[in-house]
Amino acid sequence: MCGIVGYVGKGRAADFLLDGLSKLEYRGYDSAGIAVYDGTNVHIEKSVGRLSALREKIADNMPEGSMGIGHTRWATHGRPSDRNAHPHSDCSGDFVVVHNGIIENYLSLKEELIEKGHNFQSETDTEVVAHLLEDVYNGDFLGSVREVLQRIEGSYSLVFMSKKNPGTLICTKQDNPLVIGLGEGENFIASDIPAIISKTRKTFIMADGEIAVVTQDSVNISNRRGEKIDKKIFEVSWNAEAAEKGGYEHFMLKEIHEQPKAVKDTMRERIIKDGSGIILNELNWDKDFLQSFNKIYIVACGTAYHAGLVGKYYIEKLARILVEVDLASEFRYRDPIIDEKTLLIVISQSGETSDTLAALKESKRRGAKTLAVTNVVGSSIAREAEWVLYTWAGPEIAVASTKAYTTQLILMFMLALYMAGILGTQEKERIAELVGELKKIPAQISETLSDVEPIKTFAKRYGFNEDVFYIGRSLDYSVALEGALKLKEVSYIHAEAYAAGELKHGTLALIVEGVPVIALATQRSVYEKTLSNIKEVKARDAVVIGIAAEGDEELIKYVDHVMYVPQTDELLIPLLTVVPLQLLAYYGAITRGCDVDKPRNLAKSVTVE
Ligand code: M6R
Repeated sequence: MCGIVGYVGKGRAADFLLDGLSKLEYRGYDSAGIAVYDGTNVHIEKSVGRLSALREKIADNMPEGSMGIGHTRWATHGRPSDRNAHPHSDCSGDFVVVHNGIIENYLSLKEELIEKGHNFQSETDTEVVAHLLEDVYNGDFLGSVREVLQRIEGSYSLVFMSKKNPGTLICTKQDNPLVIGLGEGENFIASDIPAIISKTRKTFIMADGEIAVVTQDSVNISNRRGEKIDKKIFEVSWNAEAAEKGGYEHFMLKEIHEQPKAVKDTMRERIIKDGSGIILNELNWDKDFLQSFNKIYIVACGTAYHAGLVGKYYIEKLARILVEVDLASEFRYRDPIIDEKTLLIVISQSGETSDTLAALKESKRRGAKTLAVTNVVGSSIAREAEWVLYTWAGPEIAVASTKAYTTQLILMFMLALYMAGILGTQEKERIAELVGELKKIPAQISETLSDVEPIKTFAKRYGFNEDVFYIGRSLDYSVALEGALKLKEVSYIHAEAYAAGELKHGTLALIVEGVPVIALATQRSVYEKTLSNIKEVKARDAVVIGIAAEGDEELIKYVDHVMYVPQTDELLIPLLTVVPLQLLAYYGAITRGCDVDKPRNLAKSVTVE
C-alpha cells in the first residue's frame, strides 16, 4: 500500500506534492518520490526512507513546474530502495506513473516488453505500466491509457503524466482509494482526503473503473466503456486541523484523547430521543429479516477483529443469534459455510483492508447478506457491502488504531441492541437501562483520560521489560488481546494476551519473578475465577497490575497496583478498560524512544495480501 498525489495548476507542483505526501505517510513510508514537468522536461526525484529524506535531498534544488505526481511507498514488489521508489517512467522518459496496489500479471507483461526491447530499471510491478503506455501510445493519451488498463490485472490507483501531453494528468482506480480535489485554476489528486483538505473541500471520490482526465480547469470522468460520468461533488466536512496533530506530540495520543468526541459522534442520531432504544436508519431491518439468518459471521483484521470479538459477545448476549468471528485472512481460505441465510459483518476502519474486502466479495458471491462497519466514507468496503454503518470517528492517522476500536465497539453494541429491540430478546427496561449507560460513556472515557500520570509512571517503570502478559476472562479477555496488540506494535515489547483460565495449560511456565502481568478483572460472573488466576501468577512473583471498576476493593489485596475505571454495565466496560491499555502502550513506546505513529514494518492500511 502506498500514497499517491498529483497536481496540475499554476502553482509550484512540488510544494503540494511534498505537503500532500506528508499527510499520506501513514499509507507507507519506506521511500518517496516526485516527478515534475517544467514545460520541457520531466524531473524525477526519489529517495529511500521517509519523506524527510527526499525533502532534504531536493531542498536546494526544488523542481520547478506546475504539473507533477508523487508517491510514498510501502514495499511489496522489490525492496525499499531509490530505484524501486516511484514515480516510474518508460524508456524514453516521456511517460511517468505512480501506483498504489499490485499489478498481478506484471511478470508476463514485463517479459513481453523486454522482448520488444524495453529496458527496465526497477524490480517493481509498477514499472510495466509506464513501459506499456510507451508501447501502445498512439498520440491519444486517454485512448492509450485505456488500452493499458485493458492489459493490466490486479488492484490499483494510478496517476499518469506525459511529457507529450502538457497540462493533463490521467488517473484511475480499481480496489484502491483515490480522490480528486477541485480547486480554482488548479486540481489535486490523492489517495486520501487529508492530503488535499488544506487546499479544497470539494472532492470527487473516484469509484472502481472510473478514469479522470484532470487539467487545471477541468475534470472529466468517464467509465471503462468511455461513457461520460456526471459525478456529484462530495463536500468534506472535517476541519483541516482534524487531519493534523492538533497540539499533541503524536497522532496516536491525539486520537486516544479524541475518543470521547468520536464515540459521541458514533451515537449521534442513533439513540431514540426518549432513550428507549436504538434506531439505525441505514438498516431498516425487521423481525422476518433477522429471523431469516441462521448465523452471523464477523470478519476483520487486527484491532477491528478484536472489536469483532466484543461484537460477537454483544450480539449473542443481547440478540441471541449465533455469531462466529473470523480473521479475514483465514476466513477466505477455509471454505466457510455461507449461503443466503448468512449475515456477514465486516469491520474495517479504513474500508480498504485487502483480506477483509476479499472476504466480503466472496461472501456476497455465495449469497450472504453483507453489512460493513467502517470509518471511511466511499471506501471500497463501504461500496461493496449491501448495508453500511459508519463509525464517524474522523480521520485516524496513527498506525495504531485507537478511536477506531472504541467507535467500532459502540457501533457493535448499538447494532446488538437494535437487533434485540426488533427481536424482543431483551426486556424494554433492560434496553432502556443499557441505553442510559451507553450515553454516559463519552464522559466516562474523558474521566479515564483525565489522570494519565500513574500510567506514565507504570510505563517508565516497566517500559524496559522484554515481555508483558495480559490476562482476563470473557470480555476482559477480548480487551486484553487489544491491549497486547497495542503494546507490541508501538513499543516492540513482546506482549501476549491469554484467557486467564488458560494459563495453567502452558503459559504459566513463562511467568517468573518480575514479569509484568496486566490483569483485567471487571466481569462479575467470572470475578472469583479471575482472582484465583491472579493468585497463580502472583505466587510465581509476577508484578501484577490490575484493571478494575471503581468500587472494587477486593482486587488491590492481591495485586501490586490497580488502575480504576468508572463503573458502568459490564457489557460496556471494555470501552473504558481499553483506554489505560492504549495509554500504557503509548507511554511505553515513548519510554523506549519508538516512532509511535509509524511503527517499524507496519502501515496504516493493508491493501495487499
Ligand atoms: O483498516 P482496518 O480496520 O481494516 O485495519 C485492520 C488492521 O490492519 C488494523 O486494525 C491494525 O491491526 C492496526 N494497526 C492495529 O492498531
